[in-house]
Amino acid sequence: MKTKTNLAILASGNGSNFEAIIKAVKKGYLSIGKCILITDKKDAYVRERAKKYKIKEIFVDPASFKNKKEYEKKLVEIHDKEKIDLIALAGYMKILSPFFVKYFKNKILNIHPSLLPSFSGKDAIENAYNYGCKITGVTVHFVSNAVDSGPIIMQKTVSIEEGMQLDELENKIHKTEHKLYPKAIRLFLKNKLKIEGRRVKII
Ligand code: GAR
Repeated sequence: MKTKTNLAILASGNGSNFEAIIKAVKKGYLSIGKCILITDKKDAYVRERAKKYKIKEIFVDPASFKNKKEYEKKLVEIHDKEKIDLIALAGYMKILSPFFVKYFKNKILNIHPSLLPSFSGKDAIENAYNYGCKITGVTVHFVSNAVDSGPIIMQKTVSIEEGMQLDELENKIHKTEHKLYPKAIRLFLKNKLKIEGRRVKII
């Protein structure tokens, strides 16, 4: 009988969050069955990270499908074949359709580099910085049909100090992400998250 959760990480770019999750697995902080990487970008650096840690990685080229539905059907097929129980989006820059979200209802997590609902969408760190915010942060949430708007699991604030440069803020946000995402995943793995409407109770 299968007892451990199998995790798929979906990523499109650099993969620093992917690496943070893998390190947490290697250290034993996250107890999972297996972990795979799925990416939609051939040249994504995250693929190198997967090779470094000997994580199975699968590149699915969206351009080779006639439409998004067919592309996502392929993703579902892979997830089913690999017996995936939990999906962590880590800089995955494609919007998942209601079909995919429904198929994996309450099993998809996402990390976003702002205090949602502020600064959803792309360039969240830069947008908060340019807005002149004194505080921004990081959010981990369940994925729902609308972008960056599912029930919030955890948030952590990051202050923007006087004179701070954008790249300093980016570093600070990423460091915060690398701690927060494994924590949220651990709560999921330990069955400690209970969704009640928009609220996620940590039990
Ligand atoms: C992260 O900052 C993540 O929060 C963001 O993409 C970055 C990926 O970095 N995601 C979003 O903006 C989702 N809306 P990484 O590839 O180094 O993990």
